[in-house]
Amino acid sequence: MAEVLAIVSGKGGVGKTTAAANIGTALAAMGHKVLLIDADVGLRNLDAALGMQDRSTYHFLDIINNQCSLEKAIVKDERYPGLALLLAPQFNSIDDIDGRAFKRMINSFKKNHDYILIDCAAGIGKSFEMACDAADTAIIVATPDILSIRDADRVAAMLEKRGADKAFLIINKINVDMVKKGDMIDIDTIVNAVAVSLIGAVPLDEYITISINKGKPAVLLPKSNTGVAFLNIAKRITGAKVPIMKLNKKRFFLKRR
Ligand SMILES: Nc1ncnc2c1ncn2[C@@H]1O[C@H](COP(=O)(O)OP(=O)(O)OP(=O)(O)O)[C@@H](O)[C@H]1O
Ligand SMILES: [Mg+2]
Repeated sequence: MAEVLAIVSGKGGVGKTTAAANIGTALAAMGHKVLLIDADVGLRNLDAALGMQDRSTYHFLDIINNQCSLEKAIVKDERYPGLALLLAPQFNSIDDIDGRAFKRMINSFKKNHDYILIDCAAGIGKSFEMACDAADTAIIVATPDILSIRDADRVAAMLEKRGADKAFLIINKINVDMVKKGDMIDIDTIVNAVAVSLIGAVPLDEYITISINKGKPAVLLPKSNTGVAFLNIAKRITGAKVPIMKLNKKRFFLKRR
């Protein structure tokens, strides 16, 4: 039975899609059967992040509407047979999706997968609600700035209100130079503010732009610190005890709470 993870954020552009592409690829590289679902209706881009664009005309609403099977709708990764992507509809509104039907669809996929990752739209709208209702675990992505942290805290509160069992935090786009100079918000301060367990700290890294442009997740690129950070998050998701990356030993020892 799959564990279903919803990748969410308060603020947009923090790296949810990047995280979904990288964590999904890393889990598949470890031999797990992974289904990535793009739930950003109308603004999908997980296909591009994976280099899988223009490979299917079907999307998850076609499955909900019994217009095709999962087998027919998914795009299979050419690198890892265990990795598959289900697109979001591009020309529908999120209001066209019935949240209960979405959850039933996710439940029907569980028995044939190890991990199902849902890449949500930003914010606390319907994409967030339906993904969180269908998920076992929420992963909140935030960047180390006060606006993103405030929104992440709001998301954490919404998750608690909805009775979510498990929630974790990824802090993405950490500027290591600013950390070294002491110019960045302390990671512990962020973790305390958002009050959910840290599952990963990911540096700001030019490799991400290269990897997105190539449709090749950073976990597949050699020499990418970001790739290593996402790989370690995938390992932690499987239950492995991997220490959180130390960005600066003296001041910013990042540890899971
Ligand atoms: N660690 C990183 N280092 C550098 N750039 C990054 C990193 N993570 C993400 N990015 C870049 O930030 C931008 C936004 O990333 P992404 O699309 O994954 O965010 P998102 O949260 O899914 O956005 P949206 O809310 O619009 O769905 C992209 O250009 C991506 O390449
Ligand atoms: Mg996105």
